[in-house]
Amino acid sequence: MKINLNGKTSDVKAVWYEEPVIKMIDQRILPETFKIVDIKNTAELYDAIKNMTVRGAPSIGAAAAYGVAQAKSLGIEVEEAGKVIKSSRPTANDLFFAVDFVLQHKEQAKRYAEMYVDSIVERSRLIGVNGNELIGNNKRILTHCNAGALASVDYGTALSPIRMAKESGKKPFVWVDETRPRLQGARLTAWELVQEGIEHKVIADNAAGFLMATEQVDLAIVGADRITKNGDFANKIGTYEKAVLAKENGINFYVAAPLSTFDFSMESGQGIPIEVRSEEEVKEVKGVPISPKESMAYNPAFDVTPNRYVTGYITEYGVFKSSQLPILKDKGKESIIEQIEQF
Ligand code: MRU
Repeated sequence: MKINLNGKTSDVKAVWYEEPVIKMIDQRILPETFKIVDIKNTAELYDAIKNMTVRGAPSIGAAAAYGVAQAKSLGIEVEEAGKVIKSSRPTANDLFFAVDFVLQHKEQAKRYAEMYVDSIVERSRLIGVNGNELIGNNKRILTHCNAGALASVDYGTALSPIRMAKESGKKPFVWVDETRPRLQGARLTAWELVQEGIEHKVIADNAAGFLMATEQVDLAIVGADRITKNGDFANKIGTYEKAVLAKENGINFYVAAPLSTFDFSMESGQGIPIEVRSEEEVKEVKGVPISPKESMAYNPAFDVTPNRYVTGYITEYGVFKSSQLPILKDKGKESIIEQIEQF
């Protein structure tokens, strides 16, 4: 992604590898501070995924792939490192997919981790190419959380089609849900859109229904953390209610994700493990309490949207309806090398 820092334009990825150090943009402190963090071992990687220094399903997968390569280069038992990395967060399929992929090729872990991450970048770019077809000129697009380059190493999933729309001369406008409690929309999506010069407005999470009902939203595109065989999907908490509102208001609702996010071993969304995070994330904003200390909070980080609310799944292979997902499942049976060769 192109970013502008102190008047200088540079090209950075959300996460990359300089053996034996994993480098990542610290996503906890944007947009105020742009900082690269060095991850030197498996314990640090576990913390970085858990505390969301790196976040977003494909970026978590990329960091995890590098984590296996790093363990190998440090002479640590890679299977053991893989187990630790996998235990950092439960919901995003990419984490498990990436670790398993590199473990399958552990003799050349670095080479395969790099191949994996390159493939994520290319998949994200193609999601943009395919999704751009769905975006007309001057369309107003609602998105939730951050499914941009920060979340997907580069380009993004939900934001990739919007980037491509801008590049192809259209004038997309983005409604950015703030995305309580970690504010990935207000902080990260808005930051990316500023970098790209894409017109947008941040809205409070509870504003989307009003905007849809008053015909100010043309379509919605979100990312996903795990999509099951029937097309149900988990994404950031609040996605489900946006999908229901979109259907109620006759608005097309798209999910953008690469193959690594699809879990064809799971029949439906009911089986997806939903991460529950700390009460403090809800009871505090930037460390400042907003609720009585006596109050308890509940903080599920994801929700599950049933397939009936999804107009289409934007993938690197094209746009599919839920009934067409078996075509994608067959792609998943091909080795990642075969998949890459097709691009
Ligand atoms: O808790 P997060 O910030 O990791 O959750 C991220 C999301 O829900 C994204 O929408 C999803 O991972 C897709 S990212 C391309």
